[in-house]
Amino acid sequence: MKHITVSLKNKSYPIYIASRGWSQLAQAIGGKIRGKKVMIVCDENIYPLYYNSVKSVLISMGYQVCSAVIPPGEASKSFEQAQKLYTQALEARLDRSSSIIALGGGVVGDLAGFIAATYMRGIGFIQIPTSLLAQVDSSVGGKVAINHPLAKNIIGAFYQPDLVFIDPGTLISLPSREFATGLAELIKHAFIADPDFISWLEENMDAIIARDVEILSHAIYRSCQIKAGVVELDERETGLRMILNYGHTIGHAIEAATGYSEYTHGEAVAMGMVYEAGIAEKMGLIKQDYINRLADILERAGLPTQLDTPAWDLIIERMNHDKKNVDQRIVLVLPIGYGKVKIFKELTPEQLKQFLE
Ligand SMILES: NC(=O)c1ccc[n+]([C@@H]2O[C@H](COP(=O)([O-])OP(=O)(O)OC[C@H]3O[C@@H](n4cnc5c(N)ncnc54)[C@H](O)[C@@H]3O)[C@@H](O)[C@H]2O)c1
Ligand SMILES: [Zn+2]
Repeated sequence: MKHITVSLKNKSYPIYIASRGWSQLAQAIGGKIRGKKVMIVCDENIYPLYYNSVKSVLISMGYQVCSAVIPPGEASKSFEQAQKLYTQALEARLDRSSSIIALGGGVVGDLAGFIAATYMRGIGFIQIPTSLLAQVDSSVGGKVAINHPLAKNIIGAFYQPDLVFIDPGTLISLPSREFATGLAELIKHAFIADPDFISWLEENMDAIIARDVEILSHAIYRSCQIKAGVVELDERETGLRMILNYGHTIGHAIEAATGYSEYTHGEAVAMGMVYEAGIAEKMGLIKQDYINRLADILERAGLPTQLDTPAWDLIIERMNHDKKNVDQRIVLVLPIGYGKVKIFKELTPEQLKQFLE
């Protein structure tokens, strides 16, 4: 079983990538779950698929297990849902020595992590991510959050898990569009950090799309390594961690300008990376060849690379609200070569508009 250690100042923990699935869970857990009482949080889609497998392993190891099942979807990252989970944790008599397991996609991970971080000022927390996005992105790095009606992910904490267990076999049941959305972040990791990984993805994209578990295990392993490496250098996002936002300044603006309903996050980020690469090309930072390779690999992954009818005014208006901006200059992460990006803080909305149109 492959594993990565995330080494942070106050805590180190392992990420296991188990290509043989749940049979490796007991070995991964070892003595790493705090206490004897565990609450597994999952959504209604995941419960019938994977809850019993995880529960049986824990029971066989002597843990007392209870479940909390939430409705699937972003709307569950709410104060109301958080309140329900606190109630369930109290009713199940979880105490300071108990643990919460997030079994599911990024919604479950962010919400359950937020509960684990705040219930009794913090209890044990294990991530078992089941969506590709959660396996390569949201379960790594310790950001946990719920949404406020006025802003996404605005109520949260940095709370690192005790352990992350990834079974790439769970991706077999993930709907294609959700799978592609995770691939956008995985491809992003290659383009910000590792030219060899870009070539490897080009060679193996067909096997990835066919969800070959061994190939997926390697792709997830390398992707997590890259994200973990960035997080280790900048746990609290004071600088370097911002490079993980490649494709996200324009991607977020596309999501907002289209009412969060037309594109998934990964689809918006895919287009965002292509447009941001276009800006970098106009600035002379990269050559057209970079954009062609990026667009080609995204298309093979089932992702869009451009908007049909881009409403640039609306999108730039949204970029003006980005929380990374300083002094009305838009902060952008731009490629400067394969596997290399740089943070630019000087661009004005007018310049951007020129580049994009
Ligand atoms: N904490 C972070 O650093 C971070 C980073 C990126 C995204 N996020 C958050 O992650 C969330 C998005 O995560 P997501 O894309 O995983 O969404 P999600 O959790 O809503 O999962 C997507 C859908 O796939 C289903 N699903 C998940 N795994 C499945 C499986 N193996 N088989 C069948 N169905 C499965 C879920 O039930 C859901 O319907 C957002 O709330 C976002 O803010 C957090
Ligand atoms: Zn993202």
